[in-house]
Amino acid sequence: MNSKLIRQKFLQFFKNKQHEIVPSAPMVLQNDPTLMFTNAGMNQFKDYFLGDSDPSSPRIADTQKCLRVSGKHNDLEEVGMDTYHHTMFEMLGNWSFGDYFKKEAIEWAWELLTKEFDLPKERLYASVFGGDQEDKMPLDQEAYDLWKQIIPEDRILEGNKKDNFWEMGDTGPCGPCSEIHIDLRPQEEIDKVPGRDLVNMDHPQVVEVWNLVFMQFNRKADGSLEKLPAQHVDTGMGFERLCMAIQNKQSNYDTDVFTPLIDFVSKLSGVNYEGKDSKTDIALRVISDHIRAISFAIADGQLPSNNKAGYVIRRILRRAVRYGYTFLNFREPFLNKILPTLAEQFDDVFPELIAQQDFVAKVIKEEETSFLRTLEKGLTKLDGIMTDVKSTSKTIDGKTAFELYDTYGFPFDLTSLIARENGLTVNEEAFNKEMVVQKNRSKKDAETATGDWVELMSIDQVLFLGYDSLTSTSKIAKYRAIEEKGKKLYQIVLDQTPFYAESGGQVGDIGYIESDGKKTSIINTKKENNLIIHFTSELPTDIEAEFSCIVNASKRKLTENNHSATHLLHAALRDVLGDHVQQKGSLVNDKALRFDFSHFSKMTDEEIAKVEKIVNSKIRENIKLNEQRNVPIEDAKKQGAMALFGEKYGDFVRVITFDKNYSVELCGGTHVQATGQIGSLKIISEGSVAAGVRRIEAITADKAEEYNNVQEGVLKQVSEILNNPKDVVKAIESLVNERAELAKAIESVNADKTKEQKVTLAKNIEEYNSYKILVSEASFPDAESLKKISFEFKNEIENLIMVLAANISGKPQISVVVSENLVSTLDLHAGKMVKELAKEIKGGGGGQPFFATAGGKDISGLSQVIVKAKELIKSVTN
Ligand code: SER
Repeated sequence: MNSKLIRQKFLQFFKNKQHEIVPSAPMVLQNDPTLMFTNAGMNQFKDYFLGDSDPSSPRIADTQKCLRVSGKHNDLEEVGMDTYHHTMFEMLGNWSFGDYFKKEAIEWAWELLTKEFDLPKERLYASVFGGDQEDKMPLDQEAYDLWKQIIPEDRILEGNKKDNFWEMGDTGPCGPCSEIHIDLRPQEEIDKVPGRDLVNMDHPQVVEVWNLVFMQFNRKADGSLEKLPAQHVDTGMGFERLCMAIQNKQSNYDTDVFTPLIDFVSKLSGVNYEGKDSKTDIALRVISDHIRAISFAIADGQLPSNNKAGYVIRRILRRAVRYGYTFLNFREPFLNKILPTLAEQFDDVFPELIAQQDFVAKVIKEEETSFLRTLEKGLTKLDGIMTDVKSTSKTIDGKTAFELYDTYGFPFDLTSLIARENGLTVNEEAFNKEMVVQKNRSKKDAETATGDWVELMSIDQVLFLGYDSLTSTSKIAKYRAIEEKGKKLYQIVLDQTPFYAESGGQVGDIGYIESDGKKTSIINTKKENNLIIHFTSELPTDIEAEFSCIVNASKRKLTENNHSATHLLHAALRDVLGDHVQQKGSLVNDKALRFDFSHFSKMTDEEIAKVEKIVNSKIRENIKLNEQRNVPIEDAKKQGAMALFGEKYGDFVRVITFDKNYSVELCGGTHVQATGQIGSLKIISEGSVAAGVRRIEAITADKAEEYNNVQEGVLKQVSEILNNPKDVVKAIESLVNERAELAKAIESVNADKTKEQKVTLAKNIEEYNSYKILVSEASFPDAESLKKISFEFKNEIENLIMVLAANISGKPQISVVVSENLVSTLDLHAGKMVKELAKEIKGGGGGQPFFATAGGKDISGLSQVIVKAKELIKSVTN
């Protein structure tokens, strides 16, 4: 059975059991402050478990793209070392939301594994939760009894809280679980050691395949457990491990999920995969695993960057490049070349990859190229370090190794490998200490303390009224205190609200809620999954009162102008540049709009002008908004609505149309009633944000008008200065040309003048005791000429002591030259001399022993400079 068929069979099995099959949620999360990436199939259903909103069906199944590289579930360092952990993996899952419970979950899991997939019963083990004193939880007897009816008791194991009590994070839905493990070892090994002894012992062939979680609790911030309103089932089966079991392989990497990738990289590097633990085997596993995580994250809209989720992706990518560089000898970008093989593999389940294949490859290539450059730089640095160390301790200290890691992306093993090759060692203990310090630092930076919700009333779903109204009468459903960067704030959930929560690029509303004449400012509104959360810096006095809620209307209106303009811009960009243009990011507030999109080259001025023109003509058409709510997603797609990759859409969507032949988008944001309200659009910048991603910044309405007025004002001033010529551009051009010609003419006049000066000065040279002395006032057009002449005299005349007190267009300047042979014989130093002389012109200067200059403020002192210079020279030449 190939992997495609296995996936399909899983979904079909649960479809037959009345489960609705839903698409995978994006792997990169947008509205969950507690998580960066989807780390379990249940993430997208968190609100259903907590009772914050209702599912479309009480039974759901899917395959979910998961990434476990940060937070509570982090497998990154194991990946590649072993044969069954991954960064990105698919989790097959079935869910019951207050519907069936343990019995069906256990029986169906057994039926699927043993009947449909025909896995050998005698090699399967089940574990159940053995209870926990701290949480005051008993053994899960119910699960135990259910398993007892299916398998012999010696294959049921009781597990502790770590293995058999599943939690999403530090807080959130959780419950006891029952895991199914499989023993894939050869029979002779099983005869020696029973599988029972190896369950949960990190044995590569005795692995967990399926986890059946019986969700019953919510873990609160204080650590206590709160019973959920209903009992749910959340199961998760590792797809790659299931394939290993069904295809009877020894490793996930031997299944057809990974072999095409490994084969490709193996061919590219000329290194064979042996399936063992050699460095090259590990490298091939790391690369074939990481390319999946990187590609799907980028396809879901997460570009590699320097912070948060983007940084995690960048680190995974660098880990892959490093392994390729160190162990497979890749010196040129190679990861991006795997894309076609990978994209084809998932064309049926996750089409977002094949649809954006070129874009994803381009982003990866750019990252690889720049990281390879960094690696090379790091190698040069390491060479220098090794040269220093070789003659002393022969040990590279921990701080240096850490700097190589932190700045140049050198992992410890790479540094120590190179060090070893050069007969040196690295202080690993000190390196690890530095690592811990940094980890603690970044943990602190990321910390937000969140208190528990205080619930005042129970609500199923927050009603958002803000599409139709900017006011409401509401009550507070729940609230909690949070601490963000040391600041105490409160989060409030209302039973119904007109406040738009930040999403889809549009900023959250601000405004206030009022009761009994007392106003409480709402300083921001955000989403947490489906909850709308209002931020305040203080709680209202009477928390249980009824509140009038008022959105700041002018800010909202300006924001709407920019949001609708973004839709018009998106459509115009596709018109002008082509259909490859995809939204890659957007920010819409009351001041401006920022739109990131995939496109491979800088837009020309003509293209920008064309886009602007189209958008403005659509604005003038005053197209009425067509807003459809609750459209079945399939219908919306039929209407040609543009859906964004990496965005999570429900079964019913909102469609925003401005002219059905022009702009149709799936969008939850708020918009103008007709495009005329936007006034006009002005693009103020176009640039690059990442490989293959461009950014446009634009303004609308009053802001665009102001911008144009300012530009016009500048132009007017320029024209006035030029005496209002007919054609300002031509006038400036001829001005610039004229200026260049004049500059040339002046230069040649100056050169002539300087030459004449030189002749005059040469006549003033006096001979005294075989010294040639020139002390004179002079005038020069510029400082450059004075310097030039000083050097000419220095080069042409031997035994020279020269002081020129110059008038340079009204400013005094002194130049002192002493022939080099006199510097030591006469103990003369031009620099010291010029300092002394500069006092006479109220200035200062300095320079070398043979040439120095000084400037000053008092031109009347020049004659005194001459007097003083003569004295000084006399005193040394006598
Ligand atoms: N949430 C559980 C897990 O991730 C089962 O889906 O293992």
